[in-house]
Amino acid sequence: MDAIEAIKSRRTIRRFKQTRIERAKLLELIDCARRSPAGGNFQAIEYVIVDEPQICKRIFACLAWAGHVRPRRNPAPHQEPTAYIVVLADNEIKKYESAAADAAAAIENILIAAHAMGIGSCWLGSVNRDEVRNILQVPDNFTIDSVIALGVPDESPVMDDCSDHNTKYRLDENDVLHVPKRTVESITHFNSF
Ligand SMILES: Cc1cc2nc3c(=O)[nH]c(=O)nc-3n(C[C@H](O)[C@H](O)[C@H](O)COP(=O)(O)O)c2cc1C
Repeated sequence: MDAIEAIKSRRTIRRFKQTRIERAKLLELIDCARRSPAGGNFQAIEYVIVDEPQICKRIFACLAWAGHVRPRRNPAPHQEPTAYIVVLADNEIKKYESAAADAAAAIENILIAAHAMGIGSCWLGSVNRDEVRNILQVPDNFTIDSVIALGVPDESPVMDDCSDHNTKYRLDENDVLHVPKRTVESITHFNSF
């Protein structure tokens, strides 16, 4: 899969098969993350890999899934993520103001690389950060930016073009998630707005 195809075909996955992801693959994702652009190249982003099933269960309890779908589309117990990457930013690094952007760049690398490796992912910002900090013993000088849920995909969401702001994802009658994306024409301006 080339980069363009990986970018275009990736979708957020919230249902996973219970196959474990090998550590080598998780480390490969971190290797992709560390190569991302970083403001001033300060590189304040660090990662906690969680792949121990008991700790995965505890992290799962700290997350909120698919806010636009009612009732919420939490993964069923047999479809929970089998690993997580918790993305941290070191807030003691001086002259450093782009932590959130740097984390986002690194996270996107992880999502695309994971997809290219056959691993599904969900970027989660709705996180009980105090609880995650407790569970993983994250030091106070690190901000918990996001949690990335990972696993072998057990669903196949589809993307739909939309030219308005009606962008809420929704489930169809076959329980398939549809994700609207604004068209190129509706978001692009040439030379002036
Ligand atoms: C900053 C950020 C935070 C997100 N937080 C959550 C979250 O807490 N829970 C969730 O289920 N999905 C979350 N998502 C995933 C989005 O819902 C998803 O990217 C969006 O619906 C578009 O779907 P797509 O990734 O398949 O293009 C988040 C995505 C981003 C970029």
